Amino acid sequence: MKIFTKTKEIEEYVLQLRQAGKTTGFVATMGALHQGHLSLIQQAQQSNDVVICSIFVNPTQFNDPADLEKYPRPIAADIQKLEQAGCDVLFNPDVSEIYATHEQWHLNIGELEHLLEGKFRPGHYQGVTQVVYKLFNIVKPDTAYFGQKDYQQVMVISKMVQLLNMPVKLAMCPILREPDGLAMSSRNIHLTADDRLHSLILSKTLNWVKDNFDSTKIIEIKATAEQLISNEPGVELEYLEIVDGDTLHTANQNTKNIVALVAARVGKTRLIDNMIISS
Ligand code: PAJ
Repeated sequence: MKIFTKTKEIEEYVLQLRQAGKTTGFVATMGALHQGHLSLIQQAQQSNDVVICSIFVNPTQFNDPADLEKYPRPIAADIQKLEQAGCDVLFNPDVSEIYATHEQWHLNIGELEHLLEGKFRPGHYQGVTQVVYKLFNIVKPDTAYFGQKDYQQVMVISKMVQLLNMPVKLAMCPILREPDGLAMSSRNIHLTADDRLHSLILSKTLNWVKDNFDSTKIIEIKATAEQLISNEPGVELEYLEIVDGDTLHTANQNTKNIVALVAARVGKTRLIDNMIISS
């Protein structure tokens, strides 16, 4: 695997790839890689000549400095996992390679960045679009792969690509889960043994919503689902919403693409999960 830490060097390399007619698939990550990340790499390998992964813990998307501070950074293990997965290129820049000091611009992609996650993590999606905009400009991939795990993030990025006519195709890949249902996440390592047990209420509740879904009873279903999570010890619900998967507005009887999304604090760790209810 080729490893680049300098923006200029990877830019030169991707130019050579382009001139040689190679197609590129791109997987952006913040590292602490797990099987979920690696599934994106595998998906990218299926339709591209070259797969490029980035590992960059983007400071501008952390609204909580403590969260940024404790974000895991096991770079040696990550490199090993990428090698094993057969990833071709890693871009692992320092913050100073990506940001000049006092960069203050951000993109305004409208209401999508203020709903759900945006409400609970103000400025988060401004940081995400800022870094993904830069990474797309540096890597210039044909296709970029993102996980459904961060459903709203996929919508935010696809809105950005659409508004700015960015020449990149996007692919959304399914959520990888632990055998007991917990969605894989780099943050799961912060869960204590007790937290880990209680965390299962998120995927269980989403499954319950899916199994019991009735488009004439969305309000009741949402209320019961909220209760299920709030009743779980050690779990503090931030939101559970049943929405139109195209707009993130509350779903109603006529909504076709329905997604249930949840965010909760389990012990000290904030977890998110979602499930497509109908499409
Ligand atoms: P990160 O949380 O590292 O996730 C990188 C990619 O892996 C995202 O597209 C995410 O949705 C996907 N992913 C995470 N857990 C997954 C799972 N269990 N199954 C499938 N895919 C999963 O998302 C980010 O980083 C950042 O916001 C980033 C886009 C890199 C910008 O900084």
